[in-house]
Amino acid sequence: MDQLLVALDVDSTADAHALADRLRGVVGGFKIGSRLFTSEGPRLVQELAARADRVFLDLKFHDIPNTVAGAAAAAVRLGVSLFNVHAAGGGEMLRRAAAATAETAAREGLPRPKLIAVTVLTSSDAGVLAEIGVGDTLAAQVARLARLADACGLDGVVASPHEIAPVRAVVERPEFLIVTPGVRPHNVAHDDQRRVLTPAEAVRAGADYLVIGRAVLNAPDPLRAVREIGEEMMRADVGSLQA
Ligand code: C5P
Repeated sequence: MDQLLVALDVDSTADAHALADRLRGVVGGFKIGSRLFTSEGPRLVQELAARADRVFLDLKFHDIPNTVAGAAAAAVRLGVSLFNVHAAGGGEMLRRAAAATAETAAREGLPRPKLIAVTVLTSSDAGVLAEIGVGDTLAAQVARLARLADACGLDGVVASPHEIAPVRAVVERPEFLIVTPGVRPHNVAHDDQRRVLTPAEAVRAGADYLVIGRAVLNAPDPLRAVREIGEEMMRADVGSLQA
């Protein structure tokens, strides 16, 4: 289940470690987002990275280019494998983030994490886009931002399962990563996610990584939930994921 990243959307280091200890070796890694990071800070990230966990730091940086470049350098030093910025921050911000990531890693002899861009949040729909003044369709906006991320040297995007095909259509290099939240196994509530697919559907659509939070965290037995998700993923054609 190397393609499954579990979102550690909990409030304490103790809860995060308990979950990570339970799932380590079974899942592909852990995502630390703004909730846990704001509560507990970078130390937890370093602790997980020091255990060789693949950590996806999901802080979605979106600020002036100089600030985002500094945050990217800091993410490299934390030892994360993957982190992200909002593509809506624009080309200069994206280029500066990519450059700071590569330069910091090279200069300090550290592994270079993959830098990916958020296109449109998976909780958004056409109504949300209209609210913020985007008149295009969701698919067009996702495609535009994915193309921009690619042109600025990023390694991939976060995209809902439904946008995987539009992204693959505009970015041709197969190594362009697609990380997909908004995945719900059968019979699990959609919560605030609007554009959901099942694990098998997301894998079949060409996602490289699936990010799953509540379907695991709210399960009575998270390890069992993860195994069931793994079975659903296996039922898809996993051939494309081995590349
Ligand atoms: O609980 P659920 O499976 O919906 O969690 C999805 C996780 O992925 C959350 O931590 C959320 O912040 C994150 N995420 C998302 N949509 C994005 C980027 C990240 O849902 N576009």
